[in-house]
Amino acid sequence: MRLKDKVAIVTGAAQGIGAAYARGLAREGAAVAVVDILDPNPTAKAIQDSGGKALALKIDVSDEKQTQEMANKTLDTFGRVDILINNAAIYGTIVRKKFEEITVEEWDKLYSVNVKGIFLCVKAVAPHMKAQQSGKIINATSSTFFKGNEDFLHYVSSKGAVVAMTRSLARELGEYNINVNAIAPGQTLSEANLKRGDKVDSNSLRIRLLKRRLYPEDLVGTIIYLSSPDSDMMTGQVLLVDGGTAFH
Ligand SMILES: NC(=O)c1ccc[n+]([C@@H]2O[C@H](COP(=O)([O-])OP(=O)(O)OC[C@H]3O[C@@H](n4cnc5c(N)ncnc54)[C@H](O)[C@@H]3O)[C@@H](O)[C@H]2O)c1
Repeated sequence: MRLKDKVAIVTGAAQGIGAAYARGLAREGAAVAVVDILDPNPTAKAIQDSGGKALALKIDVSDEKQTQEMANKTLDTFGRVDILINNAAIYGTIVRKKFEEITVEEWDKLYSVNVKGIFLCVKAVAPHMKAQQSGKIINATSSTFFKGNEDFLHYVSSKGAVVAMTRSLARELGEYNINVNAIAPGQTLSEANLKRGDKVDSNSLRIRLLKRRLYPEDLVGTIIYLSSPDSDMMTGQVLLVDGGTAFH
């Protein structure tokens, strides 16, 4: 129970990788606010049924009023916020296409969640972490940033922005004892990718050094590490968890 008495917010936790993060943090003793634009209740109920503490919050992270509400309701319910996992993104619903075919509306919508969403969640939560002089912020980027990938330029570039925000926020928040790091998963078989089919995953497997598929649960250990005192002297870093595909 490395996170006993800690309180975490996990965005994009109704399904997929975020749901695995929420369950993993709860297994380590954290109370978890399960945040998503989809119904967050099934993930929250699964945590409660296993004896953990969870709060379901249906929130759109691209809306400032709602991200403030996310922080306030978490504080009202659990009294503090120690960990913020910025995992929500437009990812699973992306239809891959050449960059010339991406519309300005699609570009702006994706950025409003993948980039502005993180800005707004940090803006809502950081004042409380500053006041308590501690906090762990973990942002979801992707191995795609290190490799460059075709057919979803808006997504790949948004994950580059996440790396830049991680480093700049680490600089601004370090003096308050707040760690800001990022996780960069490789191609992971979340529900979103299982629905998409196996082709992309087979390509990933071919160039992966560790020759097996990557599942959401494979990412949880890194999230626990970045959330726990074990990583107290680490900030502004990006940890690639991709079975050995990209290097930096
Ligand atoms: N699956 C992979 O291969 C992979 C690889 C690298 C990085 N990632 C990243 O990991 C994270 C999770 O990916 P996933 O595979 O579980 O995909 P996913 O699309 O299933 O998960 C994204 C979650 O964010 C939620 N979300 C979207 N817009 C939102 C909004 N405005 N407000 C609140 N919640 C919103 C979705 O409803 C969904 O539950 C994403 O940040 C993704 O970019 C995934």
